[in-house]
Amino acid sequence: MIAIFDSGYGGLTVFKPIINLLPQYDYIYLGDSARVPYGSHSPENIKRFSEEAVEYLFSHGAKLIIFACNTASSVALCHVQQKYLKGKDEKERKILGVLIPVAEEVSKITKSNRVGVIGTSATISSNVYETEIHKINPKIKVYQQACPLLVPLIEEDWHKKPEAISILKKYLKPIKSTNIDTLILGCTHYPLMIKDIKRIMGKKITVVPSGEITAKSLKDYLARHSEIEQKLSKNKQRKFLTTDSPEKFKIFTEKHFGMRIALPQKVELKS
Ligand code: DGL
Repeated sequence: MIAIFDSGYGGLTVFKPIINLLPQYDYIYLGDSARVPYGSHSPENIKRFSEEAVEYLFSHGAKLIIFACNTASSVALCHVQQKYLKGKDEKERKILGVLIPVAEEVSKITKSNRVGVIGTSATISSNVYETEIHKINPKIKVYQQACPLLVPLIEEDWHKKPEAISILKKYLKPIKSTNIDTLILGCTHYPLMIKDIKRIMGKKITVVPSGEITAKSLKDYLARHSEIEQKLSKNKQRKFLTTDSPEKFKIFTEKHFGMRIALPQKVELKS
């Protein structure tokens, strides 16, 4: 089974392209909505939340976990990979994130070598996008902007309101003035505002969400790693787990993602 982990509903922007591209597998989606937003927590807390999610998912049959959450990928991915994939476990199971595939893709897209990143405070403070992009091409200049209010607005379904658009404009103004030609949406939730982001940034800027890129990268990964691929069950099952209200999760998912889902199961992650 493949597990998709996010701090809330936003990871569905990654989950949806994955199931569209790879429908044959069984999936479990875990949204830790009780503790969202991760992006405003300390690195220590984000690592602890991520450990709890990984332990839960591995103990419930996951063989491959995708960290759809940019914040958890930025702050905790290396930590959990080192902690849970040692020795023989390394061949038995995997944990992958969203950052490296996105860094590789934007390095191909940018013509001016000027790339912007918007994300949560924790993602931007970690500087991981710049680090990964510079491993590929150190000449690319990376301009970053934290947008901490956007996730709570989206989770509350307030993101189409004029107040949200005016906050978005304030966040994008400094990054627009840097003459970037490519903008990474370094947060699972921002694709829900992509139309407004594109309109504010203008036609010359390519706006890059992580969902489709992660899905393609996963397909490629599975083609290259038969030792993991063979362990994945293929009955097209989808299961949703949340640490908060299952009803709210279902309503949000059906409204914003056009997916009809069974009522998610409420789970407790804290050990
Ligand atoms: N999933 C998070 C991310 O992609 C956004 C929400 C949060 O801050 O927890 O960064």
